Amino acid sequence: MIRIAVLPGDGIGPEVIDASLPILQAAAKRARLDLGFETALVGGAAYDATGHPLPAATLKLCDASAAIFFGAVGGPQYDKIPDPNLRPERGALLPLRKRYELYANLRPAKIFPGLEGQSHLKPEYLKGLDLLVIRELTGGAYFGKKELKKDSAYDVISYTRKEIERTLHFAFKAALGRRKHLTLVHKANVLLSSVLWKQVAGQVKKKYPQVAMDECYVDAFTMFLIRRPASFDVVVTENMMGDIITDEAAEVTGSIGLLPSASLGVKKTKSGIFGLYEPCHGSAPDIAGKGLANPLATILSAAMLLRYSLSAERAARSVEAAVAKALADGLRTRDLAGPKGRAVSTSQMGEAVLQRLLKAKA
Ligand code: IPM
Ligand code: MG
Repeated sequence: MIRIAVLPGDGIGPEVIDASLPILQAAAKRARLDLGFETALVGGAAYDATGHPLPAATLKLCDASAAIFFGAVGGPQYDKIPDPNLRPERGALLPLRKRYELYANLRPAKIFPGLEGQSHLKPEYLKGLDLLVIRELTGGAYFGKKELKKDSAYDVISYTRKEIERTLHFAFKAALGRRKHLTLVHKANVLLSSVLWKQVAGQVKKKYPQVAMDECYVDAFTMFLIRRPASFDVVVTENMMGDIITDEAAEVTGSIGLLPSASLGVKKTKSGIFGLYEPCHGSAPDIAGKGLANPLATILSAAMLLRYSLSAERAARSVEAAVAKALADGLRTRDLAGPKGRAVSTSQMGEAVLQRLLKAKA
């Protein structure tokens, strides 16, 4: 039995996980994978119940699992927790990323046929848009030395050659399996950490002669991402720049409710790479519990879990195809339908994808 840790978390986290789990189960069953799901507390929900956003029992379950299937954490009531290290983001999500050295964060952004109208960009700019951002996830300002004093504060951005190298190898390999084009995003005109990224990229590139590499200052990149999003294939960058440009990439596709993510690390299990899978969106407390959330980002994250942590590529594709079919059949959650359009609920969307998965030929 392969154990999967399920951490629904806060806000819409539990709803989108509930809608997605049956699909992950059905796809795994078809691939003859024997999965065992165990749920544990994380984030504000864990803080309320135990006084800590990442309780020892949750860590124990994650340690014994092949992957973590994660909803979302956080909410306005938890921003008031006096110790910032006990708030959901800094007390649960970042420590999980660090504990398993989940350094490669994959955030694909593309547009499903029929959803071109969701983007604020004119359709002609969206043709062929299919990019994959690889964000370094366990270094940089997020994890550097930091201090808040009364009248000053700092966060250190520091990277080792090893941290940069492994991320770049991951990105080059991803590019090899795609359109063989890699863009390095940095700020080497100002930051010395970026100078090191550039140097290392120049060296690693020699091992991948088939991949065309270019580079771009992060400020210019944010313009190009709007001006010509379809011109990018794989984009690789450090932690905080990756945080910022992936929200922009989401907005370019027009719906953050459709973007999945995988955070992969150094740990291998019998079935694949250990990873954490979560939708790119947050806990959206304002719409929680109303059936308004779009579960497709979480369902597509389940597909990534099948692909990377269970080495079940066909099962992963069958889930992605079922999502595409549900959208092609016109099913829309409220975020996609607009305020006046006909919308289905979170659970109805999950059910619709499940039915299409079951109907498709194995
Ligand atoms: C993300 C989020 C997190 C991050 C927050 C919640 C800490 O914005 O996953 O992009 O900044 O990494
Ligand atoms: Mg972010």
